[in-house]
Amino acid sequence: MAPLLRTSQQWVEKYRPRKVQDVAHQEEVVRTLVNTLETGNLPHLLFYGPPGTGKTTTALAIAHQLFGPELYKSRVLELNASDDRGISIVRTKIKDFAAVAVGSGISGYPCPPFKIIILDEADSMTEDAQNALRRTMETYSKVTRFCFICNYISRIIEPLASRCAKFRFKPLHEDIMLGRIQYICQEEGLDLDQEALSTLSRVSEGDLRRAITYLQSAARMYGSSISSGNIIGVSGIVPDDVLKRLVQACKSGEFDLAHTEVTEIIAEGHPVSQIFSQLFDYVIQSTEMSDEQKARVCERLAEADKCLIDGADEYLQLIDVASNTMRALSNVTQECTYF
Ligand SMILES: Nc1ncnc2c1ncn2[C@@H]1O[C@H](COP(=O)(O)OP(=O)(O)O)[C@@H](O)[C@H]1O
Ligand SMILES: [Mg+2]
Repeated sequence: MAPLLRTSQQWVEKYRPRKVQDVAHQEEVVRTLVNTLETGNLPHLLFYGPPGTGKTTTALAIAHQLFGPELYKSRVLELNASDDRGISIVRTKIKDFAAVAVGSGISGYPCPPFKIIILDEADSMTEDAQNALRRTMETYSKVTRFCFICNYISRIIEPLASRCAKFRFKPLHEDIMLGRIQYICQEEGLDLDQEALSTLSRVSEGDLRRAITYLQSAARMYGSSISSGNIIGVSGIVPDDVLKRLVQACKSGEFDLAHTEVTEIIAEGHPVSQIFSQLFDYVIQSTEMSDEQKARVCERLAEADKCLIDGADEYLQLIDVASNTMRALSNVTQECTYF
């Protein structure tokens, strides 16, 4: 077996496909873009879809395939969420870059006579900043193409979205994910059994970036032989038995028991939002609970999750969910009063 290379390079970068043609599972997107690559006639683009499905990869690949390594720097501006993209940047940096005129290149690549501005994670831009982009987009459309990338298309303002050719990226199927993962395992000399592979695919929920990141963390921590438990260990998901004990305590109808479990979960430092997400999956799949019971638990879960996002206390939200689940399971009505 090949020795593990302890380089600091991220596998997500190392195994990023370099060509649009190599992006898996997004056939329509790839077909259309390969066509535009041949003609060099690119519209403004808007890529949207869940994380880790190849959006950034595709945008970078197009830019590289159009301009090649020599012209890339002068023709492509990449900005992502970690760059400041407020109004002032839109008015200065983006506008200045957009305004520069360019000719056709001569370097053996298509080199069409425009530049590309890639705005990754564009849904994190404020509406004001997006509005400020409208003018720039219109004014310099002869010499500049924009490529917006986002998870939620609804967060891109309509005037921008309507000027773009839109491409939806689909969540990756399990077999596609496993194919890529197995390829990486082979290249890196890792040994994962069937159970570990299926755990990895389950915990990454169609997000290939997440799967690759977990794999690399597990390889760093546990070496080349990785088990299902190792994957759970690096993924931050809560082990099944913790969740089972909580549900069991709720079923018992004894508040003290539930309280003990909640205290323990908090003491062990499990992220409560993760517990909520797993509890949700459990409830949905449960064959023992009635639809009404499920609805009651899920409604409170949603409220508690929102509270967490707003900064509420983890312990209080979890105890709230636990006691509500307990009442739902024992069919006590919501409005019951105890005294
Ligand atoms: N469709 C795909 N085909 C091949 N690799 C992919 C695909 N989607 C994601 N990946 C892998 O996952 C990583 C993250 O992909 P990325 O394009 O950054 O996702 P996002 O859609 O969130 O921008 C890449 O390094 C790449 O290796
Ligand atoms: Mg991305």
